[in-house]
Amino acid sequence: MAHSATVTKAVVPVAGLGTRFLPATKATPKVMLPVVDKPAIQYVVEEAVSAGLRDVVLITGDNQSSIADHFSRATDLEAQLEARGNQRALADVRAPAELASVSMVRQDAPRGLGHAVLCAADQVGDEPFAVMLGDDLIDARDDLLTRMIQARQRYGGSIIALMEVPPDQVSAYGCAAFKPTDEADVVAITDLVEKPDPSEAPSNWIIIGRYICDPAIFDVLRETPAGRGGEIQLTDGLRTLAVADRDTVPVGGGVHGVLFRGRRYDTGNKQDFLRTTVEFACARPDLAEDFVPWLREFLDKLR
Ligand code: G1P
Repeated sequence: MAHSATVTKAVVPVAGLGTRFLPATKATPKVMLPVVDKPAIQYVVEEAVSAGLRDVVLITGDNQSSIADHFSRATDLEAQLEARGNQRALADVRAPAELASVSMVRQDAPRGLGHAVLCAADQVGDEPFAVMLGDDLIDARDDLLTRMIQARQRYGGSIIALMEVPPDQVSAYGCAAFKPTDEADVVAITDLVEKPDPSEAPSNWIIIGRYICDPAIFDVLRETPAGRGGEIQLTDGLRTLAVADRDTVPVGGGVHGVLFRGRRYDTGNKQDFLRTTVEFACARPDLAEDFVPWLREFLDKLR
């Protein structure tokens, strides 16, 4: 059966305090930290748009007006750049405002990812929608979200993205148990555990920050008690949908996973943020020619 409701909206929680990046995040939201020359959040919105999602709902916390500013026109700056004839900078300034329809919903208290997603219920309505976490950047060449939307069209329900990691990393993530389908890169989810102890992890496939959620998730999240870390976890809500006996509880349509073997970049901690910045710089045609030889020389000197 084809599930025709198209996915047009992306919910992006950005309320995190960014404590790992203080003091940089004292007055600047974490997702506004630049990876080379664009804030991380812009890459995420670009990814949404290239998968056809033009409505982006940001779930914000305190002191996050700079995010709204970034996706709005900047009349004074634009006028100054125009007066100087700097067309290139002008295009860079205008691009984020023209990218998508970006709206904001405030999360009044940091009560977890599940709660952040629930804050978008009115904006999303009764449609499947994407959830995209700003700490994870997916390489634009790998098109994960498009594959997930295809999986939603075929299987219905909710779709999560899974990546294989060494067993010692599993406890930092949501972790999945699953069985195969007739497609090599799609699995049927049978269980989910948020940040399991390594001894209790059902596999070493972890949930990365891309989801397609059936709108049934909202009712489930309203009933989901606080879990790991005292927070309402999206993983727990999806588990309810995954294990629901569809004959007796015909909600949500189950959960499938797309096994992702492409390039994911983490910006959630300092080590990975630095690696991501270097990798992105090396992949940029306008920077690599000078940057890569410099990097080689620099590393030689460190030996
Ligand atoms: C969140 C989710 C977790 C997922 C991770 C992906 O955790 O709760 O299931 O594996 O994102 O980045 P957080 O990183 O917010 O602690």
